[in-house]
Amino acid sequence: MQRVSTRVASQDANPAAPDRASDPGRGDGLVFDARDVGVAFGSGAAARRILRGVTFDVRDHEFVSIMGRSGTGKTTLLKVLGGLRDATPGSVVRANGAPVDGPPEGVIFVFQDYAASLLPWRTIERNVSLGLEGRLERPELEQRVTEALDMVGLADRRRDYPWELSGGMQQRVQLARSLAMRASVLLMDEPFGSLDAMTKATLQDELQQVHGDTGATVVFVTHDIDEAIYLSDRILILDGDPATIARSIPVDLPRPRDQLATKELPDFLALRRTVYEAIVGDA
Ligand SMILES: Nc1ncnc2c1ncn2[C@@H]1O[C@H](COP(=O)(O)OP(=O)(O)OP(=O)(O)O)[C@@H](O)[C@H]1O
Ligand SMILES: [Mg+2]
Repeated sequence: MQRVSTRVASQDANPAAPDRASDPGRGDGLVFDARDVGVAFGSGAAARRILRGVTFDVRDHEFVSIMGRSGTGKTTLLKVLGGLRDATPGSVVRANGAPVDGPPEGVIFVFQDYAASLLPWRTIERNVSLGLEGRLERPELEQRVTEALDMVGLADRRRDYPWELSGGMQQRVQLARSLAMRASVLLMDEPFGSLDAMTKATLQDELQQVHGDTGATVVFVTHDIDEAIYLSDRILILDGDPATIARSIPVDLPRPRDQLATKELPDFLALRRTVYEAIVGDA
């Protein structure tokens, strides 16, 4: 399997490493702290509870995947963490120690629908610079964009438009945007769901590399069991109606992981069975 390690700088040299000293509230090592989180749509008698009593935390630099059947509330939960949707009264959601009441600083949402999140009239480099314009002087902005495009292997496509790129490349532009903004937390909703197997594996390895090198914390939603095990430190299973966290499955596989060798490990195969049974039941 193709590896991309040469494209990403080491920790010390990595310009995209988050400035942890400026991140407040990291004393307890928790990036997210969710207690008794509920979500309901509609109000009164027509209200429909989607999530109930969801309690978990995510540690600094942890890679946590959320899995569960379609419609259980994974996207909804990610939106609550990202401050894009309100939870019911009584829910407690904290990011870096502070209550979430809007998109928290340093947190980037990567949506599945990458085509809709790129602006077709802007070049790749101007899509990557989108969140930084007006916040940085031009030379620093250009340097950040160049470094981010280098990391995802798209430096030579910077003057192309999104519609001139393949789906996998467009997804990489989204990743580059998060890197340029020096996101310390990535919330990713099925980011590789619609890609072919080869592109998916390449992007999984890029994400693994970025996670290792930048120290970012990742909360990742996927329907792909192998992908969740391959990337994660822990897998949370949402189940029930309303849904809650039915299982938290640690993934203690050595890192860095390899598309072939890791997936042949007996522990990988055992985890695949555990996660499968946790999602679909063993009946
Ligand atoms: N804005 C909304 N208004 C009303 N109901 C909603 C809204 N958004 C989501 N829902 C409902 O909440 C439930 C959970 O939706 P959500 O998108 O979080 O599920 P999911 O686990 O991400 O599913 P999938 O795996 O198919 O992406 C679904 O029943 C959905 O119909
Ligand atoms: Mg979803």
